[in-house]
Amino acid sequence: MKMSSMMPDVKEVLISSGEIQDRVREIGTQITEEYSGERLLLIGVLRGAVVVMGDLMRHIDLPCEIDFMDISSYGSGTSSSGVVRILKDLEEDITDRHVLIVEDIVDTGLTLSYLRRSLLARRPASLEICALLTKPSRRRVELDVKYLGFEVPDEFVVGYGLDYDGAYRNLPDICVLKPEIFSSAPNM
Ligand code: IMP
Ligand code: MG
Repeated sequence: MKMSSMMPDVKEVLISSGEIQDRVREIGTQITEEYSGERLLLIGVLRGAVVVMGDLMRHIDLPCEIDFMDISSYGSGTSSSGVVRILKDLEEDITDRHVLIVEDIVDTGLTLSYLRRSLLARRPASLEICALLTKPSRRRVELDVKYLGFEVPDEFVVGYGLDYDGAYRNLPDICVLKPEIFSSAPNM
């Protein structure tokens, strides 16, 4: 494949697109087995989960629907407060349904822990979490992630759905950017 025009901004490829594809296929197979006989509702958290959602759902061989939520953390910068505002709610009623939240990355865990609690209040038949990435060293709350792609170190990563300042989501690999990209951002 032709090299991405964004590669000059990349310091290091942490996880290649081939490794991601292999792991997402494995997770899809595991989900297929563990939810055998059920109808599944995948809930993607906008916008980072869009890419993994698109790949993962094609490896789930079950009757399956998708829905999306958009959320934003209160407070400045990172989601330090752990209180999440729902910007776009689900279209589906999740009562009595088997729900699997699909997320790009678990960092402190505050966002997903809040989201999980608020979705549990709607009384789904089951509720589990699938995250492509986790940064265990940053975790601030305990969070049970049933389906996990990869652990990454405490570095800001982009690609495969993850952005920096809105960009780099379309990089096929999970990458670390060069430090000068952060320091030279025009609107930061
Ligand atoms: P948490 O509440 O701290 O777990 O926040 C998780 C959210 O922060 C993710 O859904 C991402 O949107 C964002 N995030 C955390 N770490 C990174 C990263 O390294 N790159 C891009 N986005 C990140
Ligand atoms: Mg996110």
